[in-house]
Amino acid sequence: MAVDLLLGLQWGDEGKGKIVDVLTKEYDIIARFQGGPNAGHTLIFDGNKHVLHTIPSGIFHDKAINVVGNGVVIDPVIFKKELENLDKHKIPYTNKLLISRKAHLILPTHRLLDAASEASKGKAKIGSTLKGIGPTYMDKTGRNGMRVGDLELDNWKEKYDALTEKHIKMLDFFNVDVQYNLKELEEEFCAGIDKLKTLQFIDSEEFLNQAINSKKKILAEGAQGSLLDIDFGTYPFVTSSNTTAAGACTGLGIAPNKIGDVFGIFKAYTTRVGSGPFPTELFDKNGATMAKVGHEFGATTGRARRCGWLDLIALKYAIQVNGVTQLMMMKSDVLSGFDTIKVCTVYNYNGEEIAHLPYNIEPENVTPVYSEFKGWKEDLTSMNSSNQLPENLEIYISFIEKETGVPVKIVSVGPDRKQTILR
Ligand code: GDP
Ligand code: IMO
Ligand code: MG
Repeated sequence: MAVDLLLGLQWGDEGKGKIVDVLTKEYDIIARFQGGPNAGHTLIFDGNKHVLHTIPSGIFHDKAINVVGNGVVIDPVIFKKELENLDKHKIPYTNKLLISRKAHLILPTHRLLDAASEASKGKAKIGSTLKGIGPTYMDKTGRNGMRVGDLELDNWKEKYDALTEKHIKMLDFFNVDVQYNLKELEEEFCAGIDKLKTLQFIDSEEFLNQAINSKKKILAEGAQGSLLDIDFGTYPFVTSSNTTAAGACTGLGIAPNKIGDVFGIFKAYTTRVGSGPFPTELFDKNGATMAKVGHEFGATTGRARRCGWLDLIALKYAIQVNGVTQLMMMKSDVLSGFDTIKVCTVYNYNGEEIAHLPYNIEPENVTPVYSEFKGWKEDLTSMNSSNQLPENLEIYISFIEKETGVPVKIVSVGPDRKQTILR
């Protein structure tokens, strides 16, 4: 049985958490393959809102096993808070939340290094969530990191102390003012480790491949979005992992020939949080309306998200890099009420019209060229069947399907699990 992938095609926050939750009933295992607590995946059902950062979005279902894969970086402090939120809602997880021994740990000093690195960059800062993601992946590729499996060894504290000591020296190098109380941070960290150790640590690549052999259905859940990918995103304004389909292979130990469907999630418009180029960004009242109606504030940091029209050049690029087989269009309801809806179909790149994503998409090089569509007035939020969708929305969707060559299989019309229309 193949493994299906679900990943974001823009700059994150496309609505991955919501759709993983909707699809979980069709799967035996949900496995997160990269990223860490920089992610904020929102799920809304039965009048409750949950935001998950590290825990896979299938955790609210009775049967599915949720795996935190080797490609993920875990902050025990944040992880503990996530588990306590599940406790509060009486959601059982002990037997259905499994952690890869090969997942790396975010130390308190990784967060401090993230803060110092950003502060030292001044105006050129990435706009990181400051969760220690970059420094942790640097230690991973630099072969200095601490992994979940190390916690099963008697000497894990020695390893922790040595790495922390090194980080403190590195902090001095940045020569910026980062305030901290190491003792408090360590107490919090150790409490997090104690909680983490109540869960089962597994050899996740073995577990998942056994599951594949026994015909279990697996859905791999991505974090961030393709334009934040360390290789294919808008570097250096990206995150530190491969958010694209290949990241699921390395982040779970699954071979490429085991991949089935690739579900690509995108918003009917575009958002971005943090710094970096964004060709279709709006600074007018249309952008302000998207932000207001779409409640565009980060689920992890609460920062306002920048908003703009759909960028088909960027979307097609993401579809190509990921091999997307099905599209899911989110937040369609937010576009109700616009007289005209625009989609970027061409870039004017230094005076020349191009239809691919060039190396440099800074505003001085790229001006988006738009196709215009008639809007619709209907409120979509209580619709539940595709034949209720307004004709002008259907025209918009058909255009996207024709341009990308990929069918739009889900149209999301609100944040609740139920506000999901299959096409
Ligand atoms: P993720 O990181 O991809 O899981 O997405 P986030 O949870 O960070 O951001 C998506 C936001 O949009 C959340 O607040 C969701 O509750 C909300 N949302 C998801 N789908 C829809 C939708 O179709 N319509 C509206 N209005 N909100 C949605
Ligand atoms: P989900 O999974 C949106 C952005 C940050 C910053 C850049 C680097 O919820 O879609 P990092 O903390 O990784 O060093 O930040 O990436 N970023 C996200 N933006 N959604 C996310 O995750 C993000 N995770 C990181 O804002 O610009
Ligand atoms: Mg998010």
